[in-house]
Amino acid sequence: MKRIAPSVLSADFGNLRQDLEMINRSEADWLHVDVMDGVFVPNISFGFPLMVPMRKYCTKPLDVHLMIVHPEKYVERFCDAGAYSVGFHLEAVEDPLPILELIKAKGVRTCLTINPDIDVKRLVPYLDKVDMVLLMSVFAGFGGQKFIPETMDKIRFIRQEIDRRGLKTLVEIDGGVNTENAQALFKAGADVLVAGSAVFGAEDPEEAIRKMKTEN
Ligand code: DX5
Ligand code: ZN
Repeated sequence: MKRIAPSVLSADFGNLRQDLEMINRSEADWLHVDVMDGVFVPNISFGFPLMVPMRKYCTKPLDVHLMIVHPEKYVERFCDAGAYSVGFHLEAVEDPLPILELIKAKGVRTCLTINPDIDVKRLVPYLDKVDMVLLMSVFAGFGGQKFIPETMDKIRFIRQEIDRRGLKTLVEIDGGVNTENAQALFKAGADVLVAGSAVFGAEDPEEAIRKMKTEN
């Protein structure tokens, strides 16, 4: 199943409700929620206050991507704020396992993420302990960057490992996804594609979402 998760980072925050209603009408599967702390990444996006209108006006599940240090301090609050899935970066923590347990205890889906400079093999020991892995296809921190082509081989590698072990772990790709490369990413083994600027920057965002899901 091909899933698209538009990233709210590229939405118009002055008209957030309209943008969320567009997402509701669209074929988008989830809303991707990028939380940046200005420490783990050189940018600050938003925090808990924005979870309220997103939960209230968005009918799609909220896929929270934490780009923060010390995620162990905050994951439970994001669960309580209505997240469907909470992910954090492997390279931001010493041991991800107790943090995954905090999320699971809330009944929320777990995701482990890596930046492009982290060896994809580091995810292997956790594949049976998470609901999803997120491979960044740009360096976390900003929307609108160019897709890093080396990501393709990483997707194939992790897909093969998941299938070989008969796991149900989803593979999500985030950064530089657009209508041009979406089908190749699904074909390489991605289950979920995050797209910010390619959705909200499109003349017809709903059409862009549909294209990413269906066009060959
Ligand atoms: C980058 C974020 C992405 C970003 C994607 O740090 O994690 O989710 O919003 O934006 P685009 O699709 O514009 O690369
Ligand atoms: Zn993201």
